[in-house]
Amino acid sequence: MSLNVIFSKSLKSKADTAVVFIYSDKTLSSSAKEIDKATNGLIGAALKSAAKFSGKSGETLVIPLMLNADFDRVVCLGLGRIEDVDRDIAEMSGGKLFQTLESVGAAKIVLFADEIKALKKIKNEELSAHIAAGIQLKAYKFVKYKSKSDENVFIECLNVITSSNIKTSKIFSVLDCIVQGVYTARDLVNEPPNHLSPVKYVDFINKELKPLGIDINVLDEVHMKKLGMGGILAVGQGSANPPRMVIMRWNGSNKKKSKTAPVALVGKGVTFDAGGISVKPAAGMDEMKMDMGGSAAVVGTMKAIALRKAKVDVVAIVGLAENMPSGSAYRPGDVIKSYSGKTIEILNTDAEGRLVLADCLTYVQKKYKPCFVIDVATLTGAMMVALGHEYCGTFVNDNILWSQMEQASSDTGEKLWRMPLDLAWKKDVKSQIADLRNLGLSGRYAGACTAAGFLEHFIEKEMPWAHMDIAGTAWSKKEKPTVPKFASGFGVRVLNQLIFDNYEDK
Ligand code: BES
Ligand code: MN
Ligand code: ZN
Repeated sequence: MSLNVIFSKSLKSKADTAVVFIYSDKTLSSSAKEIDKATNGLIGAALKSAAKFSGKSGETLVIPLMLNADFDRVVCLGLGRIEDVDRDIAEMSGGKLFQTLESVGAAKIVLFADEIKALKKIKNEELSAHIAAGIQLKAYKFVKYKSKSDENVFIECLNVITSSNIKTSKIFSVLDCIVQGVYTARDLVNEPPNHLSPVKYVDFINKELKPLGIDINVLDEVHMKKLGMGGILAVGQGSANPPRMVIMRWNGSNKKKSKTAPVALVGKGVTFDAGGISVKPAAGMDEMKMDMGGSAAVVGTMKAIALRKAKVDVVAIVGLAENMPSGSAYRPGDVIKSYSGKTIEILNTDAEGRLVLADCLTYVQKKYKPCFVIDVATLTGAMMVALGHEYCGTFVNDNILWSQMEQASSDTGEKLWRMPLDLAWKKDVKSQIADLRNLGLSGRYAGACTAAGFLEHFIEKEMPWAHMDIAGTAWSKKEKPTVPKFASGFGVRVLNQLIFDNYEDK
């Protein structure tokens, strides 16, 4: 599914489609000029008559060629103002280019990545590597349950022609590790819930991550009961599919193990959220298979990190459970005891994610003393109401961690928006009969903030912590330039970048 990309100095084999760069104001790249010459000015003429094409970044213009020409068609790819081009623009242009290539049925593509002198924010070798990565990100398809593929995937290979082919290829091979992590996250989220119970999820993790050198430790329900993990157990107890907690470790740092505190990631992995006894309405309930999107982002990030052999120690924990209504399900009114020892009064069984996360957060801090912890979760509908599918609301208790995340966000184009933590919301989840309640007293108001306030009760003093509520960004029926419909794989790129920029041995 991910297509074959090669980088070379000259054309390696016959191609049906040539791609050339056009800059703003319809300026031709030198390869575009060459093809224009060979076709008696066809490109220039086509650009002139194309009223809507101005060479903005991501714009494409398809020009069919004569029967005896070297290619069946030339695709002009706009890059916009050269001094504005950065990684994000390069990837978005690649994604849009892919859509055009697919729509014309291109199979073998050659992209003439001419050197551009005026680039400011990005090097030439980065530009073509990121365009290729953008193509790859958009080329993702989830077709495993189609008995006969009705969506023909035409594109076979992409040959990028560049004078710095070795350097470009090296950059791309790292980007491709990240793309593979994004693909894995999307695969997991798109997977139907009957095919991805917690136990099957564990099998997937073992199969995908163990061969890459990641240590995997699985806690089953018996083990979790012994430890007193009343949060995740309560959520899973109504389902015929028992819950699991998976601890993944990547030890890539060269430093003495006794000195380095690992980076910690935690993901909500509710494989299906029916709401439990506080059952959800029927309409759209199928989409609650995506309620393991946080765990998928964490697993995808681990894959990317292992594939690129990152020099860093990472511990990642996913809490896997299915939230179902049944005779054995937990109820509104129940009081449970979390792994931290804090008791929780259940007021709504549909506020289950925070119970799963609470036990994971306690475990990772207690056992691994990390340098920071970030949890990722499709936690609240309220977050989707607030920020839609565009931004991931991020609650952070540490300004340094936030500035690192903000930078990683702007580098990758995975948008984060800082949300407030406040003592008021921490108080809002105090119960009259237990330590905490799983629903804010303010009810629907500030639902994403009271959820964060609840989690804050499980964060140790002075522990840098961020909570990413990806309820809106993990899944969308609308596509984006580098993101297909449905599962987005959101989180992999920004988390990978954060770790790469700040926490790896250099
Ligand atoms: N998984 C949902 C949140 C969600 C909603 C994610 C829509 C993605 C799209 C979560 O478990 C949930 O049900 N939250 C409740 C909390 C409420 C009962 C306090 C919600 O948002 O309605
Ligand atoms: Mn729920
Ligand atoms: Zn949920």
